[in-house]
Amino acid sequence: MPEYPLKRPTGCPFDPPAEFSTLREQEPISKVRLWDGKIAWLVTRYDDVREVLSDPRFSSDMNAPGFPSHSAGVAATRQKHPTFLNMDDPEHAVHRRMLTRDFMIKRVEALRPRIRDHVQRLLDEFTARPRPADLVTGLALPVTSSVISELLGVPYEDHEFFQYQSGLLVSGETGPEEALQAYEEMREYLRGLVERKAAEPAEDVISHLIEVERTGAIDRDQLLNMLRLLLGAGHETTANMIALGTLALLENPGQLAALRADTSAPRVANAVEELLRYLTITHFGRRRVATADVEVAGQLVRAGEPVVAANDSANRDPDAFPGDPDRLDLGREARHHLTFGYGVHQCLGQPLARVELQEVYPALFERLPGLRLAVPVEELPFKTHMVFYGLFSMPVEW
Ligand code: HEM
Repeated sequence: MPEYPLKRPTGCPFDPPAEFSTLREQEPISKVRLWDGKIAWLVTRYDDVREVLSDPRFSSDMNAPGFPSHSAGVAATRQKHPTFLNMDDPEHAVHRRMLTRDFMIKRVEALRPRIRDHVQRLLDEFTARPRPADLVTGLALPVTSSVISELLGVPYEDHEFFQYQSGLLVSGETGPEEALQAYEEMREYLRGLVERKAAEPAEDVISHLIEVERTGAIDRDQLLNMLRLLLGAGHETTANMIALGTLALLENPGQLAALRADTSAPRVANAVEELLRYLTITHFGRRRVATADVEVAGQLVRAGEPVVAANDSANRDPDAFPGDPDRLDLGREARHHLTFGYGVHQCLGQPLARVELQEVYPALFERLPGLRLAVPVEELPFKTHMVFYGLFSMPVEW
């Protein structure tokens, strides 16, 4: 039985495991073995992945028996400190609703000029660095960390601390004890911040959540877990997209030239959707466990059985993305991709991620038209074992 995650092929760093195309055609629901020996159903077709993710009989509760977790470290922290990411409705909806106002499209669009300022300022700093410079620590992480810090009300000066701890929490190689320790350190840090904000509220998400806490809708523990989720998800994910997306553009010069020739808002927005689809940084599938007997792709999945809905495979399904889905095509209509998930848990921060990416790519290539890799692509360190795919570092010249 194949081990999951399936291995990526050597060669193109953007390609998902080669087995996906055969599975989609011949065995759209198949069995795989997870890191802990658990046997899970792997669902690979676009339509079936959407079906699983929109069916309330598939649970996101990590404490439910049979839940297919990513690793011992990820399981330990999420089981002990659940957030709405790992809750089912109606509890999930109650918690998520507390944040919809903060992350809604209208609100994030109003922040666009501010995000643009951050990008320009950080590009000033980046271009002043000695070359070669690392695009990950020099630009990608600073952009996303500055924006989420400001939105939440977290001091940006603490970025090294929260980036490091968040990195431990999304690594498949962090053991349970180390992960729980990292989680505790983040919570203690956030606890101090919340106490200071309670005395001196501001226009930010932490102050808003303190108001919510005062109504009795959540307790301090839940508030801290929610903030931990927002701070981690808010910088790590999009930073991976900035670096990996830049690499994909550099490796596809024809596509990059087309983007540089037309940086109108709709063209850039479309390009960002295609990069999100093509790269699917959420590459270890959406994890669920069946709470009832359900038929998926003609197969009976029994209550208690784990399911991995492979959104990375779905994003390369030719039935959903005709015209060679294994090719990066920035003109493609790709907005229905599943990189942000689907159904009730679909990414809360997607409007923010979109605006950041729409601002970063054109600004980067406008400021640095000669941008290029400083090492061969084969020497780049890819995050193959992390919950989010991306690059640990990316040395560039210009
Ligand atoms: C390119 C960047 C990003 C990607 C690819 C991404 C991907 C995802 C995915 C796939 C899910 C669904 C998880 C599931 O189905 O189990 C999710 C949920 C979530 N994301 Fe993102 N995300 C990104 C950026 C962000 C940002 C910037 C934030 C801001 C705080 C954020 C906050 C969240 C939260 C709070 C959830 C939980 C939603 C729920 O369970 O209702 N994400 N994200």
